[in-house]
Amino acid sequence: AQTSRGPSSRVTGLSPRVSRRKIVKCEAKKVALLGAGGGIGQPLSLLLKMNKLVTELSLYDIAGVTGVGADISHCNTPVKVSAFNGPEELEGALKGAELIIIPAGVPRKPGMTRDDLFNVNAGIVKALVEAASKHCPEAIIQLVTNPVNSTVPIAAEVMKKAGTHNPAKIMGVSTLDVVRANTFVAEAKKLDVKDVDVPVVGGHAGATILPLLSQATPPVSFTDAEKKMMTEKIQNAGTVVVEAKAGKGSATLSMAYAAARMAESTLMGLNGEPNIYECSYVQSDVVPDCPFFASKLLLGPGGVAKVLPLGNMDAFEQACFHAMLPELKASTQKGIDFANA
Ligand code: NAD
Ligand code: LMR
Repeated sequence: AQTSRGPSSRVTGLSPRVSRRKIVKCEAKKVALLGAGGGIGQPLSLLLKMNKLVTELSLYDIAGVTGVGADISHCNTPVKVSAFNGPEELEGALKGAELIIIPAGVPRKPGMTRDDLFNVNAGIVKALVEAASKHCPEAIIQLVTNPVNSTVPIAAEVMKKAGTHNPAKIMGVSTLDVVRANTFVAEAKKLDVKDVDVPVVGGHAGATILPLLSQATPPVSFTDAEKKMMTEKIQNAGTVVVEAKAGKGSATLSMAYAAARMAESTLMGLNGEPNIYECSYVQSDVVPDCPFFASKLLLGPGGVAKVLPLGNMDAFEQACFHAMLPELKASTQKGIDFANA
């Protein structure tokens, strides 16, 4: 089975063991980060500044990004950093970008669902993707902004309207679910976390987050009760952080780590590195009547090179899969309707 790249294969040097793998070829890559002044944006800016595959980093926000840019730019890594403030500077941030990462928008407070963010975040995502489709239509767009289950369909519809739609280049960042699943399974089974890879499919909200524990690497076994507990722990992990932060936002540091991993894998794919797999929420026909679904993907020079089939699910996973489809389809449709309203 294909496994996602574990932390030991990072080229950023952030992980304990640095890859000995050679990069096949390394072309200049400009990354634009929209929402760079925020809780995710700031640590993600730092991680991207440390990434050897990035040559240029555009930091865009509607507030506070000038200071972040000045601060980050003093790190003595080769990445050229520029800050762009407000809509009139958005074009400059986007021009020439090959990868756009969007964490712009509001986060949850205790008691809210991710869908409660829709009213504010849908418009933010729509406007930013409209700008991207105008100024860098070939770029890969990775959406962090919640509700991901709806913001990705919004982005796809915007690009369709602009005539720039390429489903291989729009991805919802669900990497944090994989990062959490790997961490929790390694802890439960006393495994070295660098060896653990758990695919997480479906979507990125509550019951739509479906960890496929039966497909974990290395194989792990759980009783039915443990399986249920572990699945719920992964599904509720975002809410646990929201409650622990008690009104000061949601996951930012682990999210920045996860988005940095997704970005790095994507850049490796763009550079022609073979066998780069990540899970992400994308348009596909893997699940009938469900146009968007998080699946394991092969990344390549054009973005998504292949969406892998779901593979065998055990009885518990199959039950979870069927139970969450209505919610996932409704969130998708909500995004499509918004974009076309
Ligand atoms: P934050 O409030 O700390 O930062 C958001 C930033 O977006 C702010 O700097 C704000 O100025 C900026 N912003 C707002 N409107 C903008 C616009 N039109 N253009 C550019 N920038 C704009 O929030 P955060 O903690 O960084 O979270 C951001 C989003 O990421 C939230 O929607 C949150 O729910 C989501 N999130 C997703 C995941 C995931 O796994 N996909 C994980 C954590 C958080
Ligand atoms: C997460 O999973 O941490 C994010 O989606 C943020 C949230 O609101 O839970």
